[in-house]
Amino acid sequence: MSVDGALAWLDSHDQVSIDRWMEWLRIPSVGTDPKFDPDTRKAAEWCRDHLRESGFEVDLVETAVPEKGHRGQPVVFGHSPADPGYTGPRILFYGHYDVQPPDPLELWDSPPFEPVVKPAEGKVGERVVARGAQDDKGQVTMFLEAMRAWKETSGKAAGGVPFTVLIEGEEESGSVNLERFVEAHRDELAKCDVVLISDTTMLGRGRPAITYGVRGLVYTEFTLHASDQDLHSGAWGGKCPNPLNELAKTLAKLWDEDYRVTIPGFYDDVAPLTEEERAEWKKLGIDEVEQLADIGLGPDGDVGEKGFTMTEREWARPTCDINGMWGGYIGDGAKTVIPSHASAKVSFRLVANQDPKKILASFKQWLAEHTPKGCRWSEVADHGTGLGVTLPLDSDYLQAARRALKRVSDTDVAMIKSGGSIPVAGMLKNTLGLDTIFMGFGLEDDRIHSPNEKFELSSFRLGARAHVAFIQELLEMG
Ligand code: BES
Ligand code: MN
Ligand code: MN
Repeated sequence: MSVDGALAWLDSHDQVSIDRWMEWLRIPSVGTDPKFDPDTRKAAEWCRDHLRESGFEVDLVETAVPEKGHRGQPVVFGHSPADPGYTGPRILFYGHYDVQPPDPLELWDSPPFEPVVKPAEGKVGERVVARGAQDDKGQVTMFLEAMRAWKETSGKAAGGVPFTVLIEGEEESGSVNLERFVEAHRDELAKCDVVLISDTTMLGRGRPAITYGVRGLVYTEFTLHASDQDLHSGAWGGKCPNPLNELAKTLAKLWDEDYRVTIPGFYDDVAPLTEEERAEWKKLGIDEVEQLADIGLGPDGDVGEKGFTMTEREWARPTCDINGMWGGYIGDGAKTVIPSHASAKVSFRLVANQDPKKILASFKQWLAEHTPKGCRWSEVADHGTGLGVTLPLDSDYLQAARRALKRVSDTDVAMIKSGGSIPVAGMLKNTLGLDTIFMGFGLEDDRIHSPNEKFELSSFRLGARAHVAFIQELLEMG
């Protein structure tokens, strides 16, 4: 049987698959930083060549518009031909080859772009450590190796299942050019029936899961201005507004005592959490005290919106967070200063049905209505928005992915949600009506976006096997 052949190929090529994954990790594709542009392009070419070797027709599509001064990273875009007899769905595989900046460098135990395999220690298994080891090069590599396995053993790209692949290089910097790309390739993308993404986590070690929803995001930045110059705090303190004081006081009003966001209408479109869902999530047996312990907190670290558990807050409730706040003097020593201005970055995670544009507008209005006396806001910058999505649990595709995962893991497959955001999913739902299956293999302690990012070999192997088995399910679906 072909699926067994492809699975056996993965087993016998384990080391070369890991070597290829590490080769890709050596190319520092920090998409957000222009200094890495040549390497980011190399990482895209590497991915294109890998897919070509597996029988895909694939090219790089430019997103930059130099005449307009727009930067952009190329999209790895292509497809696999359908087997003549195939009658199942066409899949759009999405992933990203860009990675987060590796800073702060001094906190890495080994250089971020020199991947190393580290032996198991404690509950952490054998793993590859590098920037992008998991997010998302490691997870995309599981798909790439699964495609290679089918090509090598069946002679056909993706075993004859028609795929469209879209692997972008701007996910970590807000996918700014993606909407235009999707518009420009609407016809090709509209041929697809469902989206497959490997960029999320499992429920835990040995607990594979399908994610049926991710949150949306609104990210803003703004400055509060007062005097037209920095002032001596002895001469001026207490006589005129201090924008840092005023900014802190104003932003503190964003939450009430119960940690509910106070912006009028903020919760209007939030889909209520059903008792059924609550019960299902409870059955997953998530140990929240242990989750807190893993990040150095005691049980009193369970802080957030009243009336919901930690998991419920992550999966079903919107949040507001200050990501950074600055102004005045932050160098060594003391400087007695009343700054002329102070700034902040504030973001919101949104849940199903909340409209990012509406939330952004109501936040801007809230700021205007809370302008401290004698101060003014500068234009609120919008660093990109993303729509949250939730997939119906009875979706045939989702059930097919679940069966695939069950076949290779021999355990119950949990249905979970994620607090993170993957903006492309909302974009494809909105523009083309496509649902997304998130079949991810990360662990919460993979340190994505942090120093010493890792991906465990057992997660990598399970993910590659699951993608191989998913092809079989698709072949049987027609
Ligand atoms: N892979 C993550 C999303 C993610 C994180 C899913 C944790 C599940 C668990 C993705 O690469 C990411 O970092 N997304 C950003 C989106 C932003 C840059 C628009 C996020 O969630 O902050
Ligand atoms: Mn990612
Ligand atoms: Mn990320």
